[in-house]
Amino acid sequence: MISGRRVLLAVTGGVAAYKSALLTRLLVEDGAEVRVILTESAHHFVGPQTFAALTGSAPYTKLFDSDSVSPHTELARWAEVIVVAPATAASLSKMANGLSNDLFSATVLAYTGPVLIAPAMHTEMWEHPATARNMAILEEFGYETVGPESGALAGGDEGVGRVAEPEQIHEALSDLLGTRPDLGRLLVTAGGTREPIDPVRYLGNRSTGKMGHAIANEAAQRGYDVTLVTTSNLHADPAVNLVEVETAEQMLNAVEQVDMDVAIMAAAVADFRPAKKSAHKLSRSEGLDSVELVPNPDILESVVARDKRPLVVGFAAETGDVERAVQKAKRKDVDLLVYNDVTEPGSGFGTDTNRVTFVNRDGSVDPMPLTSKDEVAAQLLDRIAALRSLDS
Ligand code: CTP
Repeated sequence: MISGRRVLLAVTGGVAAYKSALLTRLLVEDGAEVRVILTESAHHFVGPQTFAALTGSAPYTKLFDSDSVSPHTELARWAEVIVVAPATAASLSKMANGLSNDLFSATVLAYTGPVLIAPAMHTEMWEHPATARNMAILEEFGYETVGPESGALAGGDEGVGRVAEPEQIHEALSDLLGTRPDLGRLLVTAGGTREPIDPVRYLGNRSTGKMGHAIANEAAQRGYDVTLVTTSNLHADPAVNLVEVETAEQMLNAVEQVDMDVAIMAAAVADFRPAKKSAHKLSRSEGLDSVELVPNPDILESVVARDKRPLVVGFAAETGDVERAVQKAKRKDVDLLVYNDVTEPGSGFGTDTNRVTFVNRDGSVDPMPLTSKDEVAAQLLDRIAALRSLDS
């Protein structure tokens, strides 16, 4: 079953492209979300309208002059699997050599997940050492292949090189994707809360939500049922249940609605909010000598206090030494705390990197090297998996 899975089908330019319309129909009927890339040469064999009608949205065709500033990385992030069918000799060569001079090749180069290729070409081309070499390289990349079959080829020829049938490609794709593991429900809070003074101004902090979004996206890819309660409008994986909030109180209300097995509290929640919010914009002439503050609810505390307590991960963005974080982990009674020093280069707010130290329940600490936030997300989820397997 590939129901609900996000399949990016790249149709490259060969006669066999017409079979990709049938493949598209099979995938859509099986419940997959299908997006199609049509290369320039594929347009000689099939039309965009066919795929638009089958998938409900126009195929992607251009690296430049499209609505997106970066269509290749957007598609690569969206896809759970890329299927190249038919894969011509030229497209195999592009992928094997890392070309990125059109939407198809740039997307494959920007993609890190599984790729399934269905080669289609004349026997001589298939058997040429250049193609054999390209196939060996693609195999080394971990790409999977279905076909080619032996039979009638374009122009009345016969031999090996015929594209696999749509049903075969569909089956190979189901095998490749496997059944998605059910890892349970996971909550992530992300971003800095904004506590209004009037309709225009707020008290806030410098958190952008990058770390929390990276965790939510990685968790969704791994098979968690993810709810992301966030103040940030950064990219979220389409599989993530997104709840957008602004204030700590809204965040608490949203979190209270969520059943969870794991809670990752990455948000920078304001500890205080203005006691009063003016309904109109305060003017300079009115003056504002001081802003009275009242404490905000501690969202993490409410999660820890649940009858059915989930595994709880806290975050501590500090400016001091790790001992403060060790004390915080104990005080907050979390299963794991992720500490970082925001004054360190590369570990501050809004960066793509982070250097974190994991603080364990027993007070021991594991300092990690500076790395991307995506990698920190992956390491954190590995640790959570290990903690959960100890529990069960
Ligand atoms: N947190 C929360 N709700 C709050 C405050 C914090 O859920 N009102 C969570 C944060 O998301 C983080 C952890 O608690 O995972 C620690 O946040 P932090 O602001 O560092 O801790 P505080 O309890 O506010 O402690 P202090 O202000 O003394 O550093």
